[in-house]
Amino acid sequence: MNQEFEILLVAPMGLEAELADEAREQGFAAPQVITGGVLIQGSWRDIWRANLVLRGCSRVLVRIGSFRVGHLAQLDKLAHAFPWQSFLRAGSPVSVEATCKKSKIYHSGAAAERISKALQDVVGAKIDDNAALAIKVRIERALCTISIDTSGEMLHKRGHKEAVGKAPMRETLAASILRRCGYKGQETVVDPMCGSGTFVIEAAEMALGLQPGRNRNFAFEYLPSWNEAEWTKLQTHMPLGASEMCFYGSDRDAGAITASKANSTRAGVSAVTHFECKPITALRAPPGPPGLVICNPPYGTRIGDKKPLFDLYASLGKTLQQNFKSWRVGLVTPDSSLAKATGLAFAPPGAAILHGGLRVYVFQSKIEE
Ligand SMILES: C[S@@+](CC[C@H](N)C(=O)[O-])C[C@H]1O[C@@H](n2cnc3c(N)ncnc32)[C@H](O)[C@@H]1O
Repeated sequence: MNQEFEILLVAPMGLEAELADEAREQGFAAPQVITGGVLIQGSWRDIWRANLVLRGCSRVLVRIGSFRVGHLAQLDKLAHAFPWQSFLRAGSPVSVEATCKKSKIYHSGAAAERISKALQDVVGAKIDDNAALAIKVRIERALCTISIDTSGEMLHKRGHKEAVGKAPMRETLAASILRRCGYKGQETVVDPMCGSGTFVIEAAEMALGLQPGRNRNFAFEYLPSWNEAEWTKLQTHMPLGASEMCFYGSDRDAGAITASKANSTRAGVSAVTHFECKPITALRAPPGPPGLVICNPPYGTRIGDKKPLFDLYASLGKTLQQNFKSWRVGLVTPDSSLAKATGLAFAPPGAAILHGGLRVYVFQSKIEE
C-alpha cells in the first residue's frame, strides 16, 4: 500500500503544463512535465486520488516494472519471471497493448503476444480486448516498461455527459483551457456557443469544489491493492449550491441547450448554471462583476465555405466589445485568420492543443472599458 511508483499522468497534447500546475496545486510532489503528460512519484493512494481529483488528466498509468530486453525469446523469459501476482488478481480479465520504438523487437503484436502468454501462465489472466484493466507495454530501444492503466475509460468521461452536440469538447481539455485562461473557480463564466455545455459545467464544478471523478468507476477497483475504506476517505461531498456565482451558456441551437441542461442536471450543478437558446447577437453580460467569456465557435474542415465563419467571428467580436467591457475572453480556434476577424487584440496564443484531430489555439484578450 505504501510502495512508491513512478506515475504517468497522461495529458491532452499541448496541455501538459496546465496539468502539472493543477497536480502541484492538488499537493502532488514535484510534477515533471514530459511530452504527453506529467510524471509524479507516489503510492496507490496517490494513484486513486489523481484519478479522482485531476480535471486535466486523461489517464493515470502506474509503472509496475521494467527490464532490459533484446529479442523476443528473452522477452518471453523475462515476462514469465515478472511478478504479475503482486499486481493482479488471479484470473483477472486484462487487455495487453504493446508499442515498440527503436527496438530490435519491432513487431508490437508479437511483443503483446509474449506478454499475454506470460500473464496467462503466471496469474491465469484472461486476455480480453474489452477488459476493464489494460496492461501497457512500451519497448524503447532495449528497455521494456510495464504499466497498468488505472483509469479504465478515459477520464474526460466524468459519468454525467450523455447528451452531446456537434464537435463536443472533452472535459479534460475544457478544464485545462479554463486554467490557461486564469480561471480558478472564482469568477463568472459565459460560453455563448456552449454546445453540450462542457465549459460551463466544468467551470461550475470547479467553483463548487466538486471532484471530477465523483460519478464514475475506475480500473484500479479491480486491482488487489484497492482498499475501499481508504478510497472512501478520499471522496469529499460538498454541499451543492454553495457558490454565489452563476455560469451561463447559450447557443442558437435548441437541441444544444436541451443537452446542456440535461448534462448540468446529471452533473448536479443545475442550481448554478443558466442555459438559454439565443444567437450571439442577442448576448448581453450577466449582472455582477466582469468575468471570463470562453468560446469554441465552429471552424474546421467540416465547414467548406469560410465566408459565413468570418462574419460569425466578426459578429462575436462586435457583441463582446459592445457588451462585455472589462471581461476577459478566451477564444478556441485552429485558425488565426478567424480569430483576427473578431477585431479583438489577442496576446500571442500559447502551445497548440490537439482537439478533434486539429491543432487549436487559445486566443486571449481583455475587452477595454
Ligand atoms: C464547436 S461547437 C461548441 C462545442 C462545445 N464547446 C461543446 O463542448 O459541446 C460550436 C457551437 O456554436 C453554435 N453556434 C454557431 N453559430 C452560432 C451563433 N450565431 N450564435 C450562437 N451559437 C452559435 C453551434 O450551434 C455549436 O453548438
